[in-house]
Amino acid sequence: MNMKPEVNAARLLASVADFAAIGATPAGGVNRQALGVEDRVARRLLAERALARGFSVFQDEIANLFIRREGRDASLPPLLIGSHLDSQPNGGRFDGALGTLSAFEALEALADAGVETDHAVEVVAFTNEEGSRYAPGCMGSMAFAGAGALAEWQSIHATDGPVLAEELATTLAALPEAKMRPIGHAISAFVELHIEQGPILEREDVPIGVVTAVQGTKWLEVTFSGKAAHAGTTPLEFRKDPMSAAVAAIASLQSAIMPTDPDARLTVGRIAAEPGSINVIPNSVTFTVDIRHPDAATLAVIERHVRDECEAASARWDCELAIKQRVDMPPGRFAQSIVEAIENSCERLGLKSRRMVSGAFHDALFVNRVAPTAMIFVPCRDGISHNEAEFVADHHMISGARVLLDVVERLGAN
Ligand code: GLV
Ligand code: MN
Ligand code: MN
Ligand code: MN
Repeated sequence: MNMKPEVNAARLLASVADFAAIGATPAGGVNRQALGVEDRVARRLLAERALARGFSVFQDEIANLFIRREGRDASLPPLLIGSHLDSQPNGGRFDGALGTLSAFEALEALADAGVETDHAVEVVAFTNEEGSRYAPGCMGSMAFAGAGALAEWQSIHATDGPVLAEELATTLAALPEAKMRPIGHAISAFVELHIEQGPILEREDVPIGVVTAVQGTKWLEVTFSGKAAHAGTTPLEFRKDPMSAAVAAIASLQSAIMPTDPDARLTVGRIAAEPGSINVIPNSVTFTVDIRHPDAATLAVIERHVRDECEAASARWDCELAIKQRVDMPPGRFAQSIVEAIENSCERLGLKSRRMVSGAFHDALFVNRVAPTAMIFVPCRDGISHNEAEFVADHHMISGARVLLDVVERLGAN
């Protein structure tokens, strides 16, 4: 048997639904954060399905999960496809999972058709892309590409407590069927399918985005420290109130950065006061700042601006300031050869496509440093992502998977 491989649409949609049930939230999203219980259940399900199909399963020391279908020529490096299975705390069912499951569908479609590729094809689910439970995000792909070292992250605490080293050990032990391999093996190329997570494709009614670049991201964690005191008895001149400093800094950043540059993004997504009591002036306030820009130099200017505003607020409110850098991801440009391969597949399949820059970061940003890489985007409803309401129409999922399969056939064949 050697037929033309075809995406099995019903199987792909069922698989997306099966994984959406793991960590499902009442509002229709998922909470399957990196290295937690639900993440382990999802990894197990993927590994079991892989073993049932006769594929081999590997994991490396950072728990990146690989599923391999052999090729004709074992001396060639494998073609890598996939994404991630972890989610945001109130995440959608498609961010990451769709790319991983479309890649697995491509492997199954090749196997169904009995097609032999020259290169082995490997599906990957990278560890901790989101970074919401353990910052930085993209840990698995950074380690894979030599852009970060597991040793630096082992002692990081999750937002809900456990140290990374422990959760990692539990996750690895939960999949004894997977063979261990060292972090970072040679690959011929990497292709990641993902939902756009923005409004452009839907607005322009284009089913496929061909991603040429990813903008840069920096994450800062800002802490103002003052003096805890009684809310009712402490007059203004006796206060060292870190909440006042935080509010002043955040307000001036929000009115300065995005309104002056349409390409700039600034988000304060998390804020916590200690001790966090209604009638206590806080001892400290910590908040996160996520800044993004397609241009590395402008991103650096924005970071400087953030630091300057925080310094000014700390002086004005007589509070100590500490800023920790959690993520520093320069923008990346994808390989022309893979961008063109994706465009050619869209043409062959009669699907309209457009080139675009990703506003979100992805594992592909790092894998791009060690092998030719590009991404396939599919539209999502109202551009909504990192939200339980995230939604992708069935026909968009199917089109995306068909493009991925076609690209795999071409790139796997030589
Ligand atoms: C990750 O998903 C990001 O772009 O924030
Ligand atoms: Mn993602
Ligand atoms: Mn995400
Ligand atoms: Mn992402």
